[in-house]
Amino acid sequence: MRASTASIVAASLLLGQASAALPPIVMKGSKFFYENGTQFFMKGVAYQQDAGAAGKTGTGGGSSGSDYKDPLADEAACKRDVPLLKALHTNTIRTYRIDPAQDHDACMKLLDEAGIYVISDLSVPAQSIVRNNPLWDTDLYERYTAVVDSLSKYSNVIGFFAGNEVTNEPKNTQASAYVKAAVRDVKAYIKKNVDRWVGVGYAANDDPNIRGDIAHYFNCGDQDEAIDFWGYNIYEWCGHKTLETSGYETQIDFFKNYSVPVFFAEYGCNLPDGAEGRIWEETTALYGKEMTSVFSGGIVYMYFQEENDYGLVKISGDDAKTMKNYDALEKVIAKVDPSPTDMDDYEPTNSPASCPEVSKNWKVKGGSLPPTPNSRVCDCMFSSLSCVPHEDTSPKDYGDMFGYICGEFPDLCEGINGDTSTGKYGIYSMCGAKQKLGYVLDQYYQAQGSSSTACDFKGKATLQESKTESGCEEALASASSNPTTGGSGDSETSENAAAPFGAGPARVGFVVGELAVGLYVVVAMAVGASMVLM
Ligand SMILES: *[C@@H]1O[C@H](CO)[C@@H](O)[C@H](O)[C@H]1NC(C)=O
Ligand SMILES: *[C@@H]1O[C@H](CO)[C@@H](O)[C@H](O)[C@H]1NC(C)=O
Repeated sequence: MRASTASIVAASLLLGQASAALPPIVMKGSKFFYENGTQFFMKGVAYQQDAGAAGKTGTGGGSSGSDYKDPLADEAACKRDVPLLKALHTNTIRTYRIDPAQDHDACMKLLDEAGIYVISDLSVPAQSIVRNNPLWDTDLYERYTAVVDSLSKYSNVIGFFAGNEVTNEPKNTQASAYVKAAVRDVKAYIKKNVDRWVGVGYAANDDPNIRGDIAHYFNCGDQDEAIDFWGYNIYEWCGHKTLETSGYETQIDFFKNYSVPVFFAEYGCNLPDGAEGRIWEETTALYGKEMTSVFSGGIVYMYFQEENDYGLVKISGDDAKTMKNYDALEKVIAKVDPSPTDMDDYEPTNSPASCPEVSKNWKVKGGSLPPTPNSRVCDCMFSSLSCVPHEDTSPKDYGDMFGYICGEFPDLCEGINGDTSTGKYGIYSMCGAKQKLGYVLDQYYQAQGSSSTACDFKGKATLQESKTESGCEEALASASSNPTTGGSGDSETSENAAAPFGAGPARVGFVVGELAVGLYVVVAMAVGASMVLM
């Protein structure tokens, strides 16, 4: 369990005194509160230039663009835009791509003075959990925790999204296991390093085939591993609608027993007449009585008018010009008056959902997650190997090498793969690509009786002196006794653990090989691409 509300409030009071900034937001049950106990409803605007088409803004697409503009690092733009956000009664912005190496003090102060909180995504396109080849590894862990370090020191940061529309249809539900592992690890990192509550949630699209399972999956089980809030990117209400005809009523029904806060992480359908045709009836509904009993407000998509035509403000050069639909939204949102619940009077009764069963549309077993990235373990493992990739081997060649070994001898790759439907994950699946390739090459070499020809691969693999570095003994001993974690807990699965992934080798071999090749071809391409750019 988390710290009690009282201790959270006590901690935030201390912090508030120190910085005299906006009071932190806290969470109790399925609602957000200011620390004084008044309920907090998000009146948000998405604030990120070049965020892509609606519904494609996030991490899942694995878009190849490595360029992004950190919206909290451009003081001149913040000076230009924050007054317009404030005039729109905005109390929250959502940012999608932050560079933890940049200084955010100036923008965060401007926002703070304007009464505006921030909720931010943790990934960038080049470093994200990719929906078709998901993984959660040391590189991503470093990126995500660096964003936490750079933002959580500001009291007006509410929290983070560990993923945005990563799983977006039945064929990529596997990715949710890796996002939930990220939720678990970022929450643990915050608990250890930050003195107040800062939430970690997920932003989902609205796919009718998975919407129930995915909402339950992120909320189920051990609450140290579950999301703190659920963000919905929802474009159901276009033009004139009602709670019934928009489908909002179904959402109210579904989420009324959800145990953590729910809000719209993106909304603002631009049909039928584009951005300028938006009349914001849904905004009135969102802050009305029916919805505020279940939802904590929402975030309008988006501030910047771009090619996708979802903007409120047109930028040309240094100049920002509000659009007609900005004025329309201002009029509507000025009038909303959600009635807040008082924290002391609120006794949450909802409990976490049960984990969904593995089914045709949902391929993730609850209760077992990919391992926590640990670069020390990976380094230990790599120095202990006898056969490793040659230092001149290009990451572009990794795909073929993985493909051959994992395709022909799938059991040798157990330690680096993951199977979300059985919940079994290789303990080195969280390591870097070169380390994983080393693991696999060494497994192959050992399996071939350490014949020198088994560590060659046309010169792309080479022998090294195997070393157990000091302090590595324990990590390696537990690893060598069992290359996978999870999927156990009852005798039936422990027995299965003897066979690769507890299924028929032929079929599994194919799947594992395919996954491994796909995965490393993508990694290789990403690395290759950035090498060319440098
Ligand atoms: C609590 O704080 C918020 C934000 O500062 C403020 O709007 C609200 O009126 C306060 N509530 C009380 C009961 O003082
Ligand atoms: C709420 O409860 C109903 C009925 O028990 C269930 O069908 C639904 O899935 C639940 N929703 C959530 C979000 O837990």
